[in-house]
Amino acid sequence: MSGRGRGEGHVRVSLLASLGLCGALPLMWLACSTVHQPALQPPHIEGAHLVGNRACYDCHTNLVRIFPTSPHARLPLRTPETHDAAGCEACHGPGSLHVAAGGGRGRFILNPSRQPQICLDCHWEVHDEFRLPSRHPVLEGRMTCSQCHDPHGIDITKPAGGLVWARLNETCGACHAEQVRPRLFEHEALREGCTVCHVPHGSTHAALLTERDSHLCLKCHAQTPGPGVDSGRIFIGQVDHTERLRMGTCWSAGCHTAVHGSDVHARLLY
Ligand code: HEC
Ligand code: HEC
Ligand code: HEC
Ligand code: HEC
Ligand code: HEC
Ligand code: HEC
Ligand code: HEC
Repeated sequence: MSGRGRGEGHVRVSLLASLGLCGALPLMWLACSTVHQPALQPPHIEGAHLVGNRACYDCHTNLVRIFPTSPHARLPLRTPETHDAAGCEACHGPGSLHVAAGGGRGRFILNPSRQPQICLDCHWEVHDEFRLPSRHPVLEGRMTCSQCHDPHGIDITKPAGGLVWARLNETCGACHAEQVRPRLFEHEALREGCTVCHVPHGSTHAALLTERDSHLCLKCHAQTPGPGVDSGRIFIGQVDHTERLRMGTCWSAGCHTAVHGSDVHARLLY
């Protein structure tokens, strides 16, 4: 389990492993996890212990109600003391002192919007993505994970099993209005979502691109050989691109600069 992974997520894999090994016991989650999944430790609050989600219900009723729809509600964070799910405390830390104090902002409770490290301690596989040369400035404190992910499952339109807002372009457009505004000449690629061209966390390529060369565009705009066998000419959209493809990427060579859509030209130019 070295190196960083994407997609399947190592958290899930090791979680299943720890469940398999611990499932028969009365869910002594903490004891098991120190051996098999140290990453599933809840964050530490000095002197506090786990109390379970039910202890939050009176004061944060709505959040506790919607929480079962969140993937995080499936975390096996239980102890003999709580008996019921303690998923809230996986992110906010053990709540006994917060509850005893009658609650309150900043009172014996953690908030990952101020400490993204809490998320990253479990999701270590995405940590490195936020250190790549082109990245969303989460570690710098300029934005939070929860501006893109709903931690409590409040968004009922979200895709099953995921935390990312369903209307992905709107999530991105909340901060990048220029790229989502209506255009005279729309680029249909955007209908598939910003992430057909951009990675959300971080990239080695400038502007968070998934690829830095013309393959970014050619995955949808197929190259076809020109008329006549062995002509050696390359056509895209019935236009001879043989010379043009040597001039740079489709968008940096001055040909299709307005990749997000254009107000002046159907060929996507500014
Ligand atoms: C996956 C991690 C995670 C889990 C699990 C989680 N929360 Fe949160 N919680 C967050 C984040 C992140 C924020 C900050 C949200 C934001 O900035 O919009 C937050 C914010 C809050 C707030 C403050 C809301 C406000 O208006 O500022 C409360 C209260 C809260 N959570 C309670 C709970 C309760 C109760 C549960 C269990 C039912 C729970 N949380 C489960 C991550 C989590
Ligand atoms: C006795 C009522 C009460 C109980 C029980 C309670 N809270 Fe709170 N909590 C509050 C109040 C009041 C606030 C402040 C809310 C505000 O200012 O909008 C708060 C704030 C929070 C915040 C935001 C903290 C911050 O600094 O941003 C989180 C997170 C939170 N509670 C989590 C929990 C969790 C998890 C539980 C269960 C283990 C819980 N609370 C139980 C009353 C309570
Ligand atoms: C205690 C460990 C833990 C913490 C803390 C935690 N997560 Fe998770 N998270 C998990 C596990 C385990 C899953 C997989 C749940 C499943 O698939 O059933 C998951 C699922 C997710 C998913 C869905 C992944 C997918 O492939 O669909 C996202 C997104 C996510 N978490 C983001 C966050 C964010 C953002 C935070 C902080 C606000 C956070 N997590 C805090 C353990 C954690
Ligand atoms: C700019 C929006 C944005 C921010 C900020 C963001 N994410 Fe994501 N995240 C996404 C999107 C979009 C996906 C889905 C990627 C996909 O399906 O290809 C995703 C996927 C994930 C996944 C699933 C595994 C994966 O890599 O596909 C995890 C876990 C996750 N994010 C955790 C986090 C954590 C933790 C933070 C904060 C440290 C965070 N994200 C900040 C947008 C964001
Ligand atoms: C909460 C606000 C916010 C959200 C939501 C958001 N971004 Fe960003 N985005 C930023 C910030 C801040 C930067 C860094 C800008 C800088 O460093 O000057 C950035 C940078 C970028 C860049 C690189 C810009 C460049 O010039 O290198 C791209 C591309 C980008 N975001 C795409 C997306 C996509 C795609 C989504 C949705 C998955 C998204 N953003 C969601 C705030 C946001
Ligand atoms: C067809 C591929 C593609 C799609 C889809 C796409 N982008 Fe881009 N985006 C690019 C390319 C290529 C660049 C780099 C432009 C450059 O370097 O001049 C870029 C640059 C950016 C930048 C940096 C500022 C700029 O305009 O140069 C931001 C921010 C951005 N995109 C946000 C988004 C958002 C938000 C979405 C979804 C609404 C999106 N992009 C969809 C290809 C795409
Ligand atoms: C997700 C698929 C997809 C990706 C990736 C994509 N496009 Fe498109 N693009 C389309 C679709 C669909 C159309 C509209 C149908 C057509 O004209 O082929 C289109 C239309 C265009 C047009 C207008 C063609 C015309 O004559 O009206 C240009 C120019 C264009 N794309 C350039 C690019 C560039 C440059 C890139 C890479 C930055 C790119 N596309 C990436 C799907 C995509």
